[in-house]
Order: sequence, then C-alpha cells, then structure tokens
Amino acid sequence: MYINPKLQDIRYEIRGALQQTADEMQKRGEAVLHLNIGNPASFGFRAPADLLHTYIDCLTETQGYSDSRGLLSARLAITEYCKNKGMAPYSPDAVYTGNGVSEMILMSMQALLEDGDEVLVPAPDYPLWTAAVRLAGGRAVHYLCDEDAGWNPDLQDMERKITRRTRGIVIINPNNPTGALYPAGVLAEIGTLARRHGLILLSDEIYDRLVLDGNTHTATAAAAPDVPVICYNGLSKSHLLTGFRCGWICLCGDWSRHEGFIRGMDLLASLRLCSNVPSQAIIPAALANDAAMQALLAPGGRIFRQRQAVCNALGKLSGVSFCTPQAGFYIFPKIDLRAYPIGDDIQFATRLLTQEKILITPGTGFNWTAPDHFRIVFLPEAAQLTDAVARIGKVLESFA
Ligand SMILES: Cc1ncc(COP(=O)(O)O)c(C=O)c1O
Repeated sequence: MYINPKLQDIRYEIRGALQQTADEMQKRGEAVLHLNIGNPASFGFRAPADLLHTYIDCLTETQGYSDSRGLLSARLAITEYCKNKGMAPYSPDAVYTGNGVSEMILMSMQALLEDGDEVLVPAPDYPLWTAAVRLAGGRAVHYLCDEDAGWNPDLQDMERKITRRTRGIVIINPNNPTGALYPAGVLAEIGTLARRHGLILLSDEIYDRLVLDGNTHTATAAAAPDVPVICYNGLSKSHLLTGFRCGWICLCGDWSRHEGFIRGMDLLASLRLCSNVPSQAIIPAALANDAAMQALLAPGGRIFRQRQAVCNALGKLSGVSFCTPQAGFYIFPKIDLRAYPIGDDIQFATRLLTQEKILITPGTGFNWTAPDHFRIVFLPEAAQLTDAVARIGKVLESFA
C-alpha cells in the first residue's frame, strides 16, 4: 500500500496494528480490555462537575476565534500557575494554548528544527515526541533512561549524544511510560548540560498534578531558571477531560538568543487560527482547583488503589520486574527473556490479545529497543486489574 515517504518512519503503536486487530475483534462481538490508552473517561472517570458547569456557562461567550496564542484570561492563569511553581515565564505572551499538548509538541518542533537538526529524546519515550521530531525534518537521538536507577535519565549517555546539530533535549517528567518522577538535582544537571552546549529544554509536564505518595514535582524551568525551557502542560489528565483537547506551552528562562523560534511559533499559531476556545475558558477555574484529582491520588483514592493492585499482582508473577510508578497511571514492566523465551514484545502482546482479549502496548512502541517491556495503563478498577495481570501471567507461562 502506498504511504507518503514523509510518513514512512512515523510510528504511534499505542493506536497501531494491535489496536486495529482489537477493533476487528470488537466488531465480531468480542469484548477487549484496553490497557493501551490513557483515556480516563473510558474507565468511568468523569471531569469535576463544577468544571463542566463552568464550561457550559462560557459557551455563549466563546463562539468566536480567540487571539492565536489564546484568551488572555487563560494565559494569565497559566503564567500565575508557572510562577507558583518557581518558574519564570517572561510574560503572558510566553504562553500559547493548543488543542492538547499533542498539537503544541508538533507545532514547537516545526518552529524549532531545520532539516537534519537533532533532538535528544528519552528512551523509552511518549512516541509522539520521536514522531514530531521526524515530521519536522529532524533526527530523534535517543538517550537512555536507566531502569536500575529508577528510570532516571542517564546523564552521561545524554551528554555523549550531543553533537553540533543538537538543538534541544526532551524531558518527560513525570514520565510516560515509566511513571518516574525526577529529583530536582537531576533536572539541575540537565540544565547545566543545556547551558554548556547552548540547548533548549523541552519539558513535558502534563502529569505534574498526578504525583503519588505525597511527593512534589519540580518544574525543569524552576531547576534551571536561566535556560530557555518550553514547558508543556494541559488539562487532559489532571482534570480527566482528554476529549476537550486543552493544552499549552509556556516559555520560561532566557529566550534572547532564540527570537526566531518565537516568531515561528507566532506564525504557526496564527496559521491554525486558535485552539478550542471553550476549553481555554475553563483553564483559570481548573488551575485554581485540582482537588478532585488529588482525592483520587491520595491513599485510599481510586488511582492510588489501582496502582497498588497492579503492583501487587505484577509482584506475584515470576520473571517480571518493575519500578513502582511515582506519578501518572502507567507502569512499564520488564519480562525476563531467560525465563520466557518470547520472540519479542509484539509476539507476546499479540498472544495476549488473541488469547485473553487484553490489549497492552509493547515496549518497542515507546522507542525502547530491547523487546522485553510492555506498558499497562492502570485505569480500570482494582479488581479488574488484578484479574488482567493474572491472565498476563497465564500467557507468559504459555511461553515457558
Ligand atoms: C507524556 C505525554 N505528553 C503528551 C500527551 C498528549 O496529551 P494531550 O494531547 O491530550 O494534551 C500525552 C498523552 O497521553 C502524554 O502521555
């Protein structure tokens, strides 16, 4: 089948070939458990009722296009939010709203990269990052996150991979797929590297309000205040409204040497006119109140219990190891391929789907090269997760 050569290297396995097989199974009337997509609404989570009322109330006033960067009220609220986290946005004009963080990742890469420019992207990554670099004509160079060090970035590997074509470093913190939360010291060291090599930091912080166990999230822009940082954030996950498509970027630190990027962003934001305006209008109310999410994350809360359930169940499987997620709702377990001689992660995921009707995403879908990991989204209720993991164990045993 013909595919535009520009798209030949572009992958998004979270909704890839296995998802298509699952869709066909469902058309035949088979029920598939989707542990592949971080879509809380699919598992009965609902956005806070007061926020939905704010949305409905603003519809009369939000029927037109907004400023290309976004409503001033939204940009002021985002600026305030960033300041409260110790970041230094240079003005409300440093904020651009988007149809989800996804749109801002794609736009910012288009504004940043010339053909052949390199961007350091984590392995494993959220695969839109690698795809966005390639779509913009760049080369994604993957640096390792070290499972033995709680999935923290390997700073030596990062530095080794910097060349004269490197423009920036992507940081995903808290991380998808690993659930890692990076210490301030690690972020400060990445800041030192960026400073030394004149690089921009691209910090995806969409899970910053989904931190477990009473830990706090440090913003990259707070750990490296003088470095030019693009901070990506949005309401999809923190307010359980992925379908609203509400995200933004905030430029922090010193951008005096990168004015071309800002001009490029202004142009690209104008070309797509503006992001969804009703979704922008709820940003001030949302950022002022994330109590509903905090209740889900607190001990006894639904997400907390689900993390416990998935970890307890995985802990019972021999030949499977994992780092306990510190944030978000993903876990990235490792299969010991000496215990289970599986061809690769795709073979395992395919057997799991066809035999047990459970859909997970193979680790290679996150640009993790070894075929020995998979990602589970722990959004189903605890009992369903416990049962699903036991069935994952059954399929693993079938390879032994
Ligand atoms: C790390 C990360 N960044 C960005 C996104 C995109 O989020 P959205 O486009 O819904 O704002 C996701 C979605 O799962 C994600 O996990």
